[in-house]
Amino acid sequence: MIEYNADTAFFHSWFRTYVKSFYTKDPKTQENIRLKEEHTLRVCKEILQLGKALNLNNDALRLAEIIALFHDIGRFEQFTIYGTFNDRVSENHATLGLKVLKATNILCRLTKAEQTIICNAVKYHNARKVPDSVDKLSGLHSKLIRDADKLDIWHVVTTYYTERHRHRNPALELELPDTPGYSRSFIDDILNNRVSNSHDLKTFNDMKLLQLGWIFDINFAPTFFYIRERRIIEKIITALPDTEDIRKIQNHLKAYLEKRVSGKSGNSGFSTMQ
Ligand SMILES: [Fe+2]
Repeated sequence: MIEYNADTAFFHSWFRTYVKSFYTKDPKTQENIRLKEEHTLRVCKEILQLGKALNLNNDALRLAEIIALFHDIGRFEQFTIYGTFNDRVSENHATLGLKVLKATNILCRLTKAEQTIICNAVKYHNARKVPDSVDKLSGLHSKLIRDADKLDIWHVVTTYYTERHRHRNPALELELPDTPGYSRSFIDDILNNRVSNSHDLKTFNDMKLLQLGWIFDINFAPTFFYIRERRIIEKIITALPDTEDIRKIQNHLKAYLEKRVSGKSGNSGFSTMQ
């Protein structure tokens, strides 16, 4: 238990110092570096809450927290170099993160097995899918970070949608045009329980639909409870136009969520942990 605290404290302290070096006087940079620093710290809390709900042991919780701390470590260089969080017009921030972990050798105090799990989880945290071929522990940790990350991104974007009229941050909109419509394929994906492809994003509304569809990529039962408790679906829907399509997807998503919360479908229960 002492070792658990000591190790995570060391990594937290390193992270704080590392991030500090990216702050500049430019307000836009400050805002976005802070955004990712605070996101990371909240994801650490989310992953611990989720891991505890799943009864993971202390070793797994410690590893999960380190993964959460490093999952977006590439974001700071990404914004500094390219001025955007859009991977498609810059580079994949997970790959960039792996380069940072390698260049700083920060993981050297961990075992080789732990390093492999951390690097795999960072690598797959934003991939379309966690490959079936990955080893069991890397798979578990990749899925944990994917759920915890989504929970906090939902928190960030739903807060942003309510405050956007007061202050805009183009980086949070992936610089997409805020036109009234949306792409048909994003509606169809939701109605077919599919996660849309971020490469198809054309408008800011498409991005909101993509974020709604992430519910089909949730791995663990407690996450569905948090989604319902925090009213994530309702909050994103409010930021979309009031059309028949949107009402249809709202009903569809709410029915899907109820089914998953009650454990009637899928295999995301506490015991399976995929
Ligand atoms: Fe990320």
